[in-house]
Amino acid sequence: MSGTSSDKSIDNAIADPKTYASEEAFHSLFTNLRRDDPVHWTEPDEYRPFWAITKHADIAEIERQNEFFINDPRLTLTTIETEEKVKQFTGGSHLLLRTLVNMDNPDHRAYRGMTQAWFMPPNLKSLEAKVSALATEYIDRMEALNGSCDFVRDVAVWYPLRVIMTVLGVPPEDEGFMLKLTQEIFGASDPEMKRAENATTFNANTITDFFNYFGAITADRRKNPRDDVASVIANAKINGELISDFEALSYYVIVATAGHDTTSSTTAGGLLALMQNPAEFAKLRANPDLLPSAIDEMIRWVTPVKNFFRTATEDVEFRGKKIRKGDNLLMCYWSANRDEDVFDDPFTFRIDRSPNKHIAFGYGAHVCLGQHLAKMEIRSLYKELLSRLDTVELAGDPAWVEANFVSGLKRLPIRYSMKRKAA
Ligand code: HEM
Repeated sequence: MSGTSSDKSIDNAIADPKTYASEEAFHSLFTNLRRDDPVHWTEPDEYRPFWAITKHADIAEIERQNEFFINDPRLTLTTIETEEKVKQFTGGSHLLLRTLVNMDNPDHRAYRGMTQAWFMPPNLKSLEAKVSALATEYIDRMEALNGSCDFVRDVAVWYPLRVIMTVLGVPPEDEGFMLKLTQEIFGASDPEMKRAENATTFNANTITDFFNYFGAITADRRKNPRDDVASVIANAKINGELISDFEALSYYVIVATAGHDTTSSTTAGGLLALMQNPAEFAKLRANPDLLPSAIDEMIRWVTPVKNFFRTATEDVEFRGKKIRKGDNLLMCYWSANRDEDVFDDPFTFRIDRSPNKHIAFGYGAHVCLGQHLAKMEIRSLYKELLSRLDTVELAGDPAWVEANFVSGLKRLPIRYSMKRKAA
């Protein structure tokens, strides 16, 4: 054991998926941690212990030293029971998938290099018109709902899904199936989202469905390459060899899942923040040029990826705490994005916040591969929405997913009126 922990209720709350479904519960817990014990030894029931890292500067430092603080073997907050089930399912491995986030160098550099250029702004330019047409299509659907909808279920989940599936080359008729799978992976601890036959938060059945689906895509793209990311992945070679099926399939899964719930949570959480801050909403409507900074603020505000682990490869002292080789450090991004040492009035939503050094996309070697795509798609949707929305207000209580990894709103009932669409 590497540290001592005094209050079990704090430790349980840090891991509890319910904490992440309440902004108030989360922020009061983590504001205290940042002040009193920013590198906190945490021993929750049902989870292996870890250090909770809650300050922005500390997380950036850990991510910067990626040879020293590595991604494998522990990445997300899963229970000991789930970890055991994974091992049973895989025949001993702790990995259900081997994606970019599970890899360290030299593999990480090689695998990230396969698609990095595809996700950079110069290449994304060619996608912009398609994404903007999709944004129009989904705001048309919103208009067709006649003034009331659940913005999460009717708009925010479908649009990013369609964008990422377009990027991957999955046809529109399969989007419902893909939606179910990605939500089951990330929302598995929420009773409303989890698949009935998965008795715990274990996602093996979901992963099997994903693998079956994308196995067929790999075979197709090896025969008939197109200009989508699936073709880049299916035909990628490392040291002259095609990558293994397991790694190709893992790659699709990371792009499909990382590119979906994150963006939809930000889109929905951003609208809620605007409705709750009418002066900021009015400012944005009067100055659409503020959209890029408004979107950065939405991403900071929501921070859909709540945390990731790193593992220390050597003994080290960190803010006076003795971290041992093999200890796990949970980088709490949502906490870092309210760090009083980095942000003025961190709990105020400001669409023109500048600078806005949020760390919601992570930092360093693993920094989000899809960050430019995410910003482009959220910008396209809001551009369309703001130009057509007349009025909007809450029409019921919003609700958040109970999940301690990627999370956001699961319901946002709204009432609205829209301007007549320009011919
Ligand atoms: C607002 C939306 C998004 C947020 C907040 C977000 C956040 C993150 C975070 C925190 C990480 C880990 C970074 C680290 O370890 O330093 C990450 C990694 C990643 N993200 Fe995103 N993401 C978003 C959208 C997307 C999209 C649209 C894609 C589509 C391709 C995507 C693909 C990935 C991939 C592939 C990785 C792994 C990168 C690596 O390990 O090298 N993300 N993202």
